[in-house]
Amino acid sequence: MRRIKKNNSNKVILSLIIILILGIIFYGVYYIYSKEVYKKNKVEVILNELKVEINSEVLLNSFIKEIKNGEIINKNVMVDTSKLGKKKIELIIKNKNDEEEKYNFDINVVDTIKPVIECKKEISTYVGSDIDLLKDVKVSDNSLEDIKAVVKGNYDIKKEGEYKLKYEAKDSSNNKEEVDFVLKVVNDPNNRTFTTSKGFNGKVVDGVTYIDGILIANKTYSLPSNYGSGITSETQKAFNQMQADAKALGLNLYLSSGFRSYWTQQTIYNNYVARDGQAAADTYSARAGHSEHQTGLAFDLNTINDSFANTAEGKWVADNCHKYGLILRYPKGKDNVTGYKYESWHLRYIGGELPSKLYNNGDWITLEEYFGIDSKYN
Ligand code: DAL
Ligand code: ZN
Repeated sequence: MRRIKKNNSNKVILSLIIILILGIIFYGVYYIYSKEVYKKNKVEVILNELKVEINSEVLLNSFIKEIKNGEIINKNVMVDTSKLGKKKIELIIKNKNDEEEKYNFDINVVDTIKPVIECKKEISTYVGSDIDLLKDVKVSDNSLEDIKAVVKGNYDIKKEGEYKLKYEAKDSSNNKEEVDFVLKVVNDPNNRTFTTSKGFNGKVVDGVTYIDGILIANKTYSLPSNYGSGITSETQKAFNQMQADAKALGLNLYLSSGFRSYWTQQTIYNNYVARDGQAAADTYSARAGHSEHQTGLAFDLNTINDSFANTAEGKWVADNCHKYGLILRYPKGKDNVTGYKYESWHLRYIGGELPSKLYNNGDWITLEEYFGIDSKYN
């Protein structure tokens, strides 16, 4: 009876051991199986190049080369690429079990594109101008930074020349653009300096030429059309003085033509051209802008014709006008120098000592000879 009881309890223990072993085996198989299933269903993300240009329009999706076992929910979200440097990206992924997972990675926002320079390829300016070479230069860049161009190369605004220069523009990532341009520095015909063949300093100021300080108007050197407004007070004074002294000697001097505007001169000249033809008119009448009468420093005396030279007044004026700062502007035999026939009646106010030098004891030296300048139409 006792033996039977013992046998039964052994059987129970054995059964329990078998059940336990089976349980362990079953659990192990289940464990391995579930691990495999998990592995098979695990979300896997394979990324693309993670560099992106600043301010470029990119969707999150563009960083994803491949995704396994999941779907990106926010793939069409635009990435903010407005700042240079590292940027954190978070993907929201729905896995195979319909659960949301997050996946994080960094991208690098870079700037590899150089600025764009819009500018003129050639700039012309006058010697001595205060031109701003950057005035019409536009620089744009994908970084949207405010980039100022700089001028590279050497030039001298005070010297005529063609200067080969560059505009350079750099963004904060050191992307550099260079554009060649030429700066042409030329003499302003209306504001320039020059030296005459006799070494005198010439200066053109707003289109009016002065040599050694003396205003010059002849066939070469013209006046702007708006120049002049009447006879100058010094000229009038000189005439008055000369007239008074002549009167004391019983001579009668009077002004028959003083200041003539550009437009008056144009009418006079055109009338002569119509009457005698241009070649002839050019020997005795100035074209508009070339007449000394427009300077307000010249006048004609008495009868405007050759007979004046042989009158007592004409003779006295020729010998004495220099004492009043006046010169005989178109002396006899100097047609090829002054560009005009002898005009015994046309005086020009100069002032100072020069008139007496030019008088030269009656053998008049012209302004053209004295300064070493031409009187020829271009
Ligand atoms: N007769 C002089 C040259 C003039 O016309 O100004
Ligand atoms: Zn005259």
